[in-house]
Order: sequence, then structure tokens, then C-alpha cells
Amino acid sequence: MTERRSWAEPWKIKMVEHLRVTTKEERLAAIKEAGYNTFLLKSRDVYIDLLTDSGTNAMSDRQWSGLMMGDEAYAGSRNFYHLEKAIQDYYTYKYLIPTHQGRGAEHMISQIMIKKGDFLPGNMYFTTTRMHQELAGGTFVDIIIDEAHDTESEHPFKGNVDLDKLQALIDKVGADKIPYFAIATAVNMAGGQPISLGNLKELRKLSLKYKIPIVHDMTRVAENAWFIKEREDGYADKSVAEIVYEICSITDHATMSAKKDPIVNIGGFLATNDEDLYLKAQNMVVMYEGLHTYGGMAGRDMEAVALGIAESVQDDHMRARVGQTQYLGERLLEFGIPIVKPIGSHGVFIDARKFLPHLSQDMFPSQTLAAEIYIQGGVRTMERGIVSAGRNKETGDHNRPKLELVRVTLPRRVYTQSHMDVTAESIADVYARRESIKGLRFTYEPELLRFFQARFEPLD
Ligand code: F0G
Repeated sequence: MTERRSWAEPWKIKMVEHLRVTTKEERLAAIKEAGYNTFLLKSRDVYIDLLTDSGTNAMSDRQWSGLMMGDEAYAGSRNFYHLEKAIQDYYTYKYLIPTHQGRGAEHMISQIMIKKGDFLPGNMYFTTTRMHQELAGGTFVDIIIDEAHDTESEHPFKGNVDLDKLQALIDKVGADKIPYFAIATAVNMAGGQPISLGNLKELRKLSLKYKIPIVHDMTRVAENAWFIKEREDGYADKSVAEIVYEICSITDHATMSAKKDPIVNIGGFLATNDEDLYLKAQNMVVMYEGLHTYGGMAGRDMEAVALGIAESVQDDHMRARVGQTQYLGERLLEFGIPIVKPIGSHGVFIDARKFLPHLSQDMFPSQTLAAEIYIQGGVRTMERGIVSAGRNKETGDHNRPKLELVRVTLPRRVYTQSHMDVTAESIADVYARRESIKGLRFTYEPELLRFFQARFEPLD
């Protein structure tokens, strides 16, 4: 028998959801009505929805059955204890506070740990994470390695912390002004790029030396683990589950958007090994989310998360998950489209500066490109550039990130390889007519997290 070279998904399809194919005229009208913001499109006007991998996943038959096992008790639901055990067994953390989604956990940890005037070093910002740090009076400081800001760099661990940048910050502001290191796995804004265990262990030394805890944004930790297995010396024979366990074990607290790795549609949590933080968060969660044994989730949702965690750390699942992203990225490269390299875990990130070099950053190249990709083929993607970066809270000017990207994000277990082909071909069609594309200007700019609801119009 010949050795098998291709892999295929470790599941088959039991139920389908129909998609609506629209005409170009319909799409032009829809994007205009949406103020050229893909967040404001109606889902029924979208053919292939690659806006986000957040809450857009397909649950397994086991997870759907789990919904029927929901124990909707106000207090002490059995699903809470199942979820708590899953978090202890797979993620090492002792205490669990469920929340409605990731930002609920970010809100609590920021309010509990950050004092006005504090600094929060992190391996690149994430929109909601930084917003909550700022609302609590903190200032985010980017300490990711420089390669992360360079779309051409093929560094295998572009999520790594630059320990010299971190040391310089500690020397400058003092350890007592740094409540924690904010460390994400599979760094979203860098293009789904991993941090290595070697780097995390070095960071741990600084954390112990200065008694500064590590808060782990573990939203896509299993995806990060896959890259460690593939790229880091000594990990090829370890399972994703073992690597996830090791990553979590060298951090102190965690925030999780369960809408990603755990393959569900809603949910999140705060997890910690620290009893003091746990008690404070227990007190706080009843004010903002719900009782501490359900936070913002129904019993059935907690059950689906508990089951999804176990599925998310299976090697076969992760091979297919990351494999599909690699496939789409390689198709785009074949068409000559500039993307972030190496190809990340949860999406392919198009370099809008290179795609539309004739547009200045103030003409919102990524926002423009996301709108054009939708018009071309009904494929919905997302801006990750100057609009997402918001404004500087002191000067009021735009934050001007080096990375000006369009994220083509893959929900888990939802689309097939043919959808990836159609997506790559429609982006290639936009590339062929790129020189005729003009930029956008704001017609409405919300104050906070503006990218979600901002509206634009085309420049003349
Ligand atoms: N941290 C990371 C790394 C995220 O990617 C997200 C959400 C959050 C925290 C916040 O979690 O949405 O459950 O409140 N990312 C989504 C995305 C919105 O499309 O990347 P949430």
C-alpha cells in the first residue's frame, strides 16, 4: 500500500445549512447600506463568511447531545462542575469563573489587577483586551519581537516576547507599576502567530524574579500548541494536549474566549491558580455576569464548552484545523497575493499595504480591501489595521499600526476545501483590478472599539 500523503478532516457532515448566492448588484447595494464596514453586513447577504472564527464554529454531535444534558439550575449546575474539571484536567488552572465571553473575563481581571498609572506589557495588543486595560487606567506596552510587525519575516515564533524590551520597561517604570505580563498564545493581531515554549520559559524567569504574574490570553492555545509540535525542538512527539498543559502550567491566570479553540458558539471564562484573585472575581462576577457557577452562560453552554475543550486538543482535529488555513494561504500565494508569512493558525492575513500600495494609511486600505473582497465574491473578511487600532487616548490621533491587514478567518469545521478555492479565486480577481480601487473616509466614528460600528463612504 502506498503511504497516505493527504490528510482529510477527522469528521463527516451530518447536516447542512444552505447559503444564498447573490449578484454583484445586490452586493454593491448591501455594502453601501453597511457603510463599507463588513461588520454591518447582514449575514443573509454573505456567501462565505470569513469575518471571524469567533462563535462561528460547527459543534460535534457529542456537543449537540451535551446541550440536552444542560442543568439549568441557578446555582451549582452539574455542567459547571464538568467545565471546572475540564479546565483543571486540560488547562491546569484550579479555579474557574465562567463569563458570557472572553471580554467579560478581561473586564474583571483588568478591574481587579490594574491601578491607574500601571503599565501592561504584552505580546501585541488585542482590541478588547487593551480597551479593558485602558478603562482600568493602565497603558498597554507592546513587547513582541520586531519580526511580528514585519509581514515578510518567516520567523517561526512571531508571537515571542522580546525580553530586552520587557527588561527595559521594568527598568524604566519599576516592577511595582506592572501588575502582570499580558501574554497571548497564537497572537491574533500578528496573524495567528505562536509563542515558543522556550520563550515562555525565559519569560517565566523574569516573572519569578520580579514577582509579576503572567496572565495568559488562552483563546487559541491549542492552535499555538500545534505550531510548537511542528516547529520547536523536542516537541514533535508530544501531543497537542500535552503541550497545551505545559503552556498553561507556566502561567498564573487565564482569560478565555471559548468561542474559538473550544469550538462553541458562545462562552468564556476567567481561570486562575490564585485563591485571592478567585474570591475577588467571584464577588465581581455576580455584579456583571451572573452567579459564579454560571457567569454569563446557560448550563447547556457550559456543557458544550467542556466537551469542546477535549475535542480541541486532539491532534487530528488540529492538523485539519491549521491544515485548512495553510491550504488557503498557499492558494493565495500561488496567485501572487501578499500575505503574512508564515501562514497563521486561525486565518490568512492579507497585507493591504502591499496589495493597495497607492492608498495611504489614512485612506483605510484594509477597510477598503475587505469591502472590495465582499463586492467581488460575497466573501466576508475583516479589517485589522488603522481602524481597529483606534485613537491614542492622549493625543487623539489615530494609532498607526505597522500592520495594515485584512483577516480572512476560518471558522472551525464549517467550510470545505472548495469554499477555500472560491475564496482564493475571488481575492485573486480583486488583485487583478487593484489599481482601480480607491480608498474610504469616515462618515461615522464611534468612540470605543470603533471598527465594529464605524461607517464610511468611498473617496471620489
Ligand atoms: N482575546 C483574543 C485573542 C481574541 O481573539 C478575542 C476575540 C478576545 C480576547 C475577546 O473575546 O470576543 O469572546 O469577548 N476575538 C474575536 C475575533 C472578536 O474576531 O478575533 P470575546
